[in-house]
Amino acid sequence: MHNPRLASLPDYPFERLRGLLDHLPPPDGLSPIALSLGEPQHPYPDFVGDILHANRHLYGKYPPVAGTPEFRQAVADWLNRRYDLPAGLLAADRHIAPCAGTREALFRTAFLAVPPEKDGRQPAVLMPNPFYQCYAGAAIAAGAEPIFVSALPERGFLPDFAGLAEETLARTALVYFCTPANPQGAVADGDYLAQLVRLARQYDFTLVVDECYAEIYTGAPPPGTLQACADLGGEMTNVLVFHSLSKRSNVAGLRSGFLAGDAELIRLFRRLSEYGGNPSPLPVYAAATALWGEESHVEANRALYLEKFEMAERILSNRFGFYRPDGGFFLWLDVGDGEAATRELWTRAAVRVLPGAYLAADEPDGGNPGARYIRVAMVHEAAVTADALGRIAETL
Ligand SMILES: Cc1ncc(COP(=O)(O)O)c(C=O)c1O
Repeated sequence: MHNPRLASLPDYPFERLRGLLDHLPPPDGLSPIALSLGEPQHPYPDFVGDILHANRHLYGKYPPVAGTPEFRQAVADWLNRRYDLPAGLLAADRHIAPCAGTREALFRTAFLAVPPEKDGRQPAVLMPNPFYQCYAGAAIAAGAEPIFVSALPERGFLPDFAGLAEETLARTALVYFCTPANPQGAVADGDYLAQLVRLARQYDFTLVVDECYAEIYTGAPPPGTLQACADLGGEMTNVLVFHSLSKRSNVAGLRSGFLAGDAELIRLFRRLSEYGGNPSPLPVYAAATALWGEESHVEANRALYLEKFEMAERILSNRFGFYRPDGGFFLWLDVGDGEAATRELWTRAAVRVLPGAYLAADEPDGGNPGARYIRVAMVHEAAVTADALGRIAETL
């Protein structure tokens, strides 16, 4: 006997990709390039290794779920600088919690945000479509109905949560939103975020804004949701933002991020962490503290991505609906049939990409908003990326 809810979890996108490609041989003579996984290959600062080594005597200690005071302060200082928050908005002890990478923390948040019933019915968890898959898994595991809200090019890839039926909003317990968005790279402006915050308060749901790509952008820095809270008067009620060092500092394997916002939600998150959380080791907190306090590696990182987007623009020019995303490190290319293109790119060019349909749910009308697309992760160094993009342009 198992939890029957888990039966409705679809296979994870990378599992589906293995099913699509692993029985097909890549062509002879071309070395395979994987652009399917969003794992940054840029270097991370040398001081990370030095700090881990200098603090190695602390691996013997159980780390605190609330993190160290230095970690929380470094995060508060970074948030204040990055989003120009008014003094006194953030209390490092009450509004910030560390997490060992944001994926698990995003998942766990559903367990504190979703009640058994809302408005006398099964609670709903809203998310954009396409979406980061963790959101749907969390909604289902927590007993809610996931509701996928189209994020289509006509609306700048931003979902219209406020346009949903009143009966849906009334039973909404949690909204996951991502800006810059994975996969389309869309950035929500301050008005959009403020409207979402107001909606969260009007219908009393938890608003989770996944801002893990906030430091990778091609134009102006993407606005943050805490800024929207400040503009609305300074309360962070109902709101949590999530940030990660995986993309900002290229340390996906360090497993370090944080959430910030509503003091009551942070308290509940920590409470759940005490029972079932897995806090980062103390040497990791020390390295993370230094990373949040250092900007030059982030600027260098951003410059590397910008260079690759400029290169992509030259190589792909106007084909496949190419556009330079406002943020994040993915290309979202309209190739007509994403699955067929993925198969073709693998068998003819040894390039592995992800079909957009694997990142999206089928909608009630039977359509899938990712079906026409492939997602291309621009995570390799420039020469490898140029090689892969050249193969894509030639093959498709
Ligand atoms: C949109 C989004 N959110 C969260 C994560 C999780 O990142 P991490 O657990 O490394 O912090 C990812 C990773 O790919 C992501 O793409």
